Amino acid sequence: KFVANFIEENRWKYLLDGLKVTLQITFFAVLIGIALGFLVAIVRSTYDRTGKLKILNLLCKLYLTVIRGTPVVVQLLIIYFVIFGSTDVDKVFVAVLAFGINSGAYVAEIFRSGIMSIDNGQFEAGRSLGFNYVQTMIHIIMPQAFKNVLPALGNEFIVLLKETSVSGYIAMQDLTKGGDIIRSQTFDAFMPLIGVALIYLAMVLIFTKLVNMLERRLRSSDH
Ligand code: ARG
Repeated sequence: KFVANFIEENRWKYLLDGLKVTLQITFFAVLIGIALGFLVAIVRSTYDRTGKLKILNLLCKLYLTVIRGTPVVVQLLIIYFVIFGSTDVDKVFVAVLAFGINSGAYVAEIFRSGIMSIDNGQFEAGRSLGFNYVQTMIHIIMPQAFKNVLPALGNEFIVLLKETSVSGYIAMQDLTKGGDIIRSQTFDAFMPLIGVALIYLAMVLIFTKLVNMLERRLRSSDH
């Protein structure tokens, strides 16, 4: 009875602690993804438009090819076991790095498609207002591009949130692992795993709602 109670009382803790880890990884990985994706998209579209930044553009292309051409689990394992192999590095840090670098590649292409979606006339309009290339980018192109890519960006962060569920590969106790630990301790698979699924689903629904609200707000300034 005591043991049953003990396990019973600590069940929720696995999910709660796991959820914290999942949210932590996702939050900081999103920040890295946006920063990295933004830089890469700027380099790529600047090269496309002006032919400048040739070497940087090549490096960016290499980054995109490697990251999008290999599974994120393998990238996570390589960063943990190869790059930080012999050090006792913080696992959350490793996961944030891995998922951030991974997401950056996808975000870069999303931003780039957003910049490309803006009509050339907008660049010319900027120039005719006396803006230089950078000013045109900041004041005219970016605000419109951001509005266009918001749905894709929201989708990317949903993918990222769910993708962190492979963190268990480097023995992190994220939400998924938390549920799996409960499963292995209680020999009940249904409740913990369905519970985990429902928590992810709830987070995705809340996030989708927030993105939709932001989208509507940005659109309202169109009229
Ligand atoms: N699961 C796939 C992989 O292992 C897709 C990862 C996609 N990541 C993202 N942030 N969009 O590579």
